[in-house]
Amino acid sequence: MTRTVAVGEPEAMVPAPLDVERLRRDFPILGRTVHGRPLVYLDNAATTQKPEPVIAAEADVYRRYNANVHRAIHTLGEEATFAYEEARRKVAALIGAPDPRGCVFVRNATEGLNLVAWAWGRRRLRPGDEVLLTPMEHHSNLVPWQLVAAETGARLRFVPLLPDGHLDVGALERDSLLNERTRIVAFTQASNVLGTLTPAAEICRRARAVGAVSVLDAAQGVPHLPVDVRALGCDFLAFSGHKLYAPLGIGVLWGRPELLEETEPFLGGGEMILRVDLTCSTWNEVPYKFEAGTPNVAGAVGLGAAVDYLRAVGLEAVAAHEADLTRYALERLGELPDVTIYGPPMPRGPLVTFNVGAIHPHDLAQFLDQEGVAVRAGHHCAQPLMRHLGVAATARASFALYNTRAEVDALCAAVRRAGAFFHG
Ligand SMILES: Cc1ncc(COP(=O)(O)O)c(C=O)c1O
Repeated sequence: MTRTVAVGEPEAMVPAPLDVERLRRDFPILGRTVHGRPLVYLDNAATTQKPEPVIAAEADVYRRYNANVHRAIHTLGEEATFAYEEARRKVAALIGAPDPRGCVFVRNATEGLNLVAWAWGRRRLRPGDEVLLTPMEHHSNLVPWQLVAAETGARLRFVPLLPDGHLDVGALERDSLLNERTRIVAFTQASNVLGTLTPAAEICRRARAVGAVSVLDAAQGVPHLPVDVRALGCDFLAFSGHKLYAPLGIGVLWGRPELLEETEPFLGGGEMILRVDLTCSTWNEVPYKFEAGTPNVAGAVGLGAAVDYLRAVGLEAVAAHEADLTRYALERLGELPDVTIYGPPMPRGPLVTFNVGAIHPHDLAQFLDQEGVAVRAGHHCAQPLMRHLGVAATARASFALYNTRAEVDALCAAVRRAGAFFHG
């Protein structure tokens, strides 16, 4: 039996198609084999592979101008500082931030979200205040709020999901989920499990109307969608570089300037201070107030190179290519026996989460790996959502600009063989 949960409608977007074969040559790792088979890498929602210009930019820091930023009064330090701040300008341009100082370099989306929860949320939430989330949040946009709610006495509430995996936005009013006690609305722009795209601009606007601050987890958004913080109207937005073709260990928290100004530091140490006395200190200006210690200069420079790369390829063209792959994968996987696909119809994020009969997703992923196909299997750091779906785990194939329909075919052929192997 093939059960397909709400597989859907094509959307209209027709920029010039990507020259994927040429782009693939930019990613050295895609040339390798796994278990004697060509690598088919479909775990891009976990982390993307890196193109040569990103690898080169990061290596170049260590080869030519490795130094600490801002404090070093020598040529290497000045060059490193320039490159680091240039990367900040590139990131700001990518997300439509009017002022690069609104972009704080952090390790990843998780750290950015924790920064907001601890440095902004914990100091402002009072008993009875409400933090509105969704049941499909990645643990990194759920657990920090649980911790902060436990400390402050704030109450966590959740926008329910509709059966097709979309948010039940009607419940905001119907169930008074947005009300005068709502202080924070923190939600994902795109689910890393269902691929659901949330109506982020609408939710941010409605959050603001009740005086709440909006926090957007854009970890699965920025790599795949043109993102503009002004158009979204969010107050904070976090994403990870490594899901966007950039090195591991670098991410961004963008904050509305006036909010960053009033936010207390998250971590204390070097770089984030103006003056330190034995019993008290004053803080450096934004964003340095939030960048305690020696930053990941090479990572930031690599992120800047990734932004250049992505923009040169074309965000609209990437989005159209990934939508084509997703639609194709939904169709092809949906034709296979015993496959259950989760999530809403198109348009949706570029991933397909599925199960095959009674095969445990870990067994499935191991079988696929033997065939050279890398997919994710597990709870995807979204255990409450797994419970909502009534499963312990799922498999997930997720796409990036370098994936092809032939790779989707390879996935489907391997899934078919797995079905025959496990089900007999
Ligand atoms: C929606 C979403 N939010 C947050 C994260 C956390 O990202 P990181 O582990 O890079 O901090 C992920 C990672 O998969 C994600 O998919």
